[in-house]
This record gives sequence, structure tokens and C-alpha cells, in this order.
Amino acid sequence: MNDPVPTAENLRAALSGLLDGLPPKQAAGAVERLIANYRGRTPTDAPILRDRADVAAYAAYRMPATFEAVRAALDAFAAAVPGWAPGSHVDVGGGTGAATWAVSATWDGTRPVTVLDWAEPALALGREIAAANPALHGARWQRARIGAALTLDATDLVTVSYVLNELAEPDRAALVDAAAAAAQAVVIVEAGTPDGYARVIEARDRLVRAGFHVAAPCPHSAACPIVPGTDWCHFSARVSRSSLHRQVKGGSLPYEDEKFSYVAATRLPVTPAPARVVRRPQIRKGQVLLDLCEPDEQLRRTTVTKRHGDLYKAARDADWGDPWPPGDPAA
Ligand SMILES: C[S@@+](CC[C@H](N)C(=O)[O-])C[C@H]1O[C@@H](n2cnc3c(N)ncnc32)[C@H](O)[C@@H]1O
Repeated sequence: MNDPVPTAENLRAALSGLLDGLPPKQAAGAVERLIANYRGRTPTDAPILRDRADVAAYAAYRMPATFEAVRAALDAFAAAVPGWAPGSHVDVGGGTGAATWAVSATWDGTRPVTVLDWAEPALALGREIAAANPALHGARWQRARIGAALTLDATDLVTVSYVLNELAEPDRAALVDAAAAAAQAVVIVEAGTPDGYARVIEARDRLVRAGFHVAAPCPHSAACPIVPGTDWCHFSARVSRSSLHRQVKGGSLPYEDEKFSYVAATRLPVTPAPARVVRRPQIRKGQVLLDLCEPDEQLRRTTVTKRHGDLYKAARDADWGDPWPPGDPAA
């Protein structure tokens, strides 16, 4: 796999000039409109990303975070399907192409890449930014509307990142079905909110019914053990913030944590995590509390103490979202 840091840095550098030349008032207005639209959460009949100012604001304001979330999901997927790399990739609702950058950070080499979206300004800017990433030089940026008529060409990998929340239920179903019909592997990422999780579970159920195995985050492909409405499965990805990012989003912290929910499923044989850490581990004196999703379809809290020796050391290093116990799942 690539060293992922250069890709994130490369992306940040590519984004850094974006708001140059855009009057600060216009940039701030575009960000405010985006936030209002994304909070409103009603699927729209026309693209939210309407012009260059909207798209530049989206890329500066959201792309570093969606990139890190997708990259975390792809890392978990790659660990469950060791030795496999996609020979082709279609990013549906790809916008400015965050997921294409994440795929290139996860797997070495180049592959045919197609980005589909109905917002031409997003595709245009995505193409422009992608000039900085050699793995994306051959990418095709194409207008397409997600809906009942959507069909996708056969491909190894389909990504759908932060798109389902912009679609009404029939279009979400049509998109997941089209992805399942076309791809060997489907990775879906949504905001790490109760609603985002609900949309992920809806998609997960559809993929499993279509014959897919869940590679991550779940340690099994049976029903999710979370009782609807009581909790939601989500994870966190750290996003370092450039000065541009701070300027667009306000605040002064050098990083922020992007919460996301995801499912990565495939027709390939999988070795899912033996269990997965589904909350931030709690480190106490001499012990670590791990909340785990287990292969027997249960959620369980495990306490790892000093008495456990090496396992205790591993527990102190464990992160929210990691497989547990650590180690090569294929070993
Ligand atoms: C929140 S953005 C996510 C963009 C990108 N996937 C990412 O992760 O940064 C949602 C994208 O979905 C696209 N989209 C929403 N509804 C669509 C539809 N019905 N057909 C095609 N694209 C759509 C929007 O234009 C936008 O680019």
C-alpha cells in the first residue's frame, strides 16, 4: 500500500489555492449556504453544488474530511481482503472526487477511474484538482443522474461517499442495486449520525440480500446487533486542518475529528475482523475497557488488564474502529 500521508498532503496542497481570487464574502456565503443545505437534509431535485463558488467552498470545507473517512473505510476493507486491489473504480455521486483520492492512497498503481455526478461544476473542479494526483490523470468525469434509470458499467469497486443522504429512498435503493449489479466490491460512507447509520444499514441489508459479504466494519454478515433507535455504529477519522481549512470553517484547532458510518461489502471471499472496537477505548489505571462488536452478533464490553501482558499493551494502543485482537486477520 502507499504511504498514505503524502496523498493527504498532496490533496491539501491541491486545495490550497482554491479560494484564491474568490471574494471572501462570496466564499463565506457559499459555505453558509452549503451548511444550511446539508443541515436541511431534504433530497433536492437539482444539484446543491450550483457554481464554482459552491464547489470551491465544498472542496475546501468538506473534501479533506470526506477523503479521510473514505480512506479509513477502505483501509478496513483492504485488511479484510488482503492481496486484492481494485482493477477499476467507479465513484458514484463523486463530486470533486474525494473517494478517488482515497482509493489511490489505499492501493498502489493506476486503474481506470470514472466519477459520476449530476453537478457539472463539481466534476470540473474535481478534474482540476486531480491534475495534482498522477493516479487520477486518466480519470473520466461524467455527468450522470442517480435514479431508477441508473445503470453502471461492470467494475471492481464502486464507492458511494456522503451521497445517500441526498437521495430519496427509491433512489437510494436504485443506487445500491446498481452498484451491487456492477461491482465486486461496494464501499458506502455516510455521516456518523443516527440517520447516516440508518442509511448505511439499509444499504448493508440490500447488499447482503444481493449476495455480498460484509468485509468491514462488521465481523459478520448477519443482522446488526444494535437495536434501532438505541445507538448507532460510527467511527472517527482525524483530519488535519490547513490554514485554508481553518479560514473556511473557522476555529483554530490544527485538526478535527470526522465522524462517519460505513459498510464495505464484496462478492470476494473475506476475512473480516475477529471483532471490532466500536467506541473510543477507555483507558483506566491498569486496565482498558473495549466495547466490541463480536462475530456471534453481540456487542460486548471487554476489560483488558495488566495481567493480560502483551494483550494489555495492544489494548492501550487500540483505537476506535480497529480490529480486535490486532494482527493480520489472514494469519
Ligand atoms: C455531499 S457530496 C459528496 C461528494 C463526494 N462523494 C465526497 O465524498 O466528497 C454529494 C454529491 O452527490 C451528488 N448528487 C446528489 N444527488 C445526486 C443525483 N440524484 N444524481 C447524481 N449526483 C447526485 C451531488 O452533486 C454531490 O456532488
